[in-house]
Amino acid sequence: MVDFALTEEQKELQRVVRQFVEKEIIPVAAEYDRTEDYPWDIARKVFDLGLLNAEAPEEFGGGGLSTLESCVLAEEFGFGCAGIATALFANDLAIMPIIIAGTEEQKKKHLGALCSEFQMAAFCLTEPEAGSDASGITNKAVKDGDDYIINGRKCFITNGGVANLFSVFVSTDKEKGHKGLSTFILNGEMPGISKGKREDKMGQRASDTSEVIFEDVRVPAANLLWNEGDGFKIAMMTLDRTRPSVGALAVGVARRALEESTKYSLERIQFGMPIAMNQAIQFLLADMAKDVEAARLLCWQAAWMADQGMRQSKESAISKAFASDIAMRITTDAVQVFGGYGYMKEYPVEKLMRDAKLLQIYEGTNQIQRGVIAKALLMP
Ligand code: CAA
Repeated sequence: MVDFALTEEQKELQRVVRQFVEKEIIPVAAEYDRTEDYPWDIARKVFDLGLLNAEAPEEFGGGGLSTLESCVLAEEFGFGCAGIATALFANDLAIMPIIIAGTEEQKKKHLGALCSEFQMAAFCLTEPEAGSDASGITNKAVKDGDDYIINGRKCFITNGGVANLFSVFVSTDKEKGHKGLSTFILNGEMPGISKGKREDKMGQRASDTSEVIFEDVRVPAANLLWNEGDGFKIAMMTLDRTRPSVGALAVGVARRALEESTKYSLERIQFGMPIAMNQAIQFLLADMAKDVEAARLLCWQAAWMADQGMRQSKESAISKAFASDIAMRITTDAVQVFGGYGYMKEYPVEKLMRDAKLLQIYEGTNQIQRGVIAKALLMP
């Protein structure tokens, strides 16, 4: 059976988040974009609502949301502000390795701490020489008695400058390439962790994107997820799970651009009539609407498959690439519908366009997504 309807509980979740976004995020999004301040107040309120770390199981204090429900959440936050949404969802990305690979004890300790006390988290994979090629990681962990000593520097880390929990991917055996990568959970109190440069970004400026530096950080072996050498697999499984919500965040951005364009096209008078009367505008709006619907369904499908425990690397990649590509096109077209005003900061659409660009880049560029899709087709 195919069922496209949300349950009453899921609709209620959507309603609560939509209301929150309207009241708490939309009025301040432009200001956060301008100042680049970190949205601490908003994150705190989302934590109080029980919607930060939303995918952490309830037994450890989390929201217990399914991947599909996480998509519903991501679309609404993305509608409000992609930068703020990214800051919030970085927590879900950071805890996913623990959800996937943590023992009961590790979940209790790390998820328990994150869910009981308000704090942000960061997923530390990327390095200057290891972006798309995640197997090229050179940050390393060396065994020392019952501990490991971690050294290195990560870059482009969402929440890197504000996090108190870090899931960190390092090499424990350089000779073994991707089979020599391992995942550790670090917390901010460990001596030797510091933040480096904070990036000054084109869009999504409310989210913190920083370097994270590890200097002789001593980490107990108990903080290793699964075994040495399992890090690459954990990273790939994590991204399979989180890419549908990146897609859903993009759907939110695109839906916002469509709504703003529709409203404006009915208000803006040229040649004695609303510009919406022109077929050229109508077709732009129609194309936006059809792609928003298609993208949402792709994200929900990939999420649903994850919730059924099915391998969905291909569907996740399709949903993320399709949704972020259409978000880029739709936000660009929205600026076109607004004409000269669309280019000005006084109106919301230029921000949507700047914010959308990053969605085609992070959590795997859309070229990498196409590589994953092609591999699944050619080497199933
Ligand atoms: N699940 C489980 N295992 C997987 C897997 C998956 N989805 N994908 C690959 N693997 C396994 C393979 O089975 C293989 O295992 P064996 O060695 O045992 O055979 C191994 O991993 C290597 O697989 P590949 O040969 O396919 O690896 P590759 O190097 O050719 O390609 C890649 C991998 C898809 C390019 C990968 O490196 C990738 O996804 N790169 C992009 C990285 C990325 O998304 N970075 C984003 C950073 S996070 C971020 O942006 C967040 C933020 O701050 C907002």
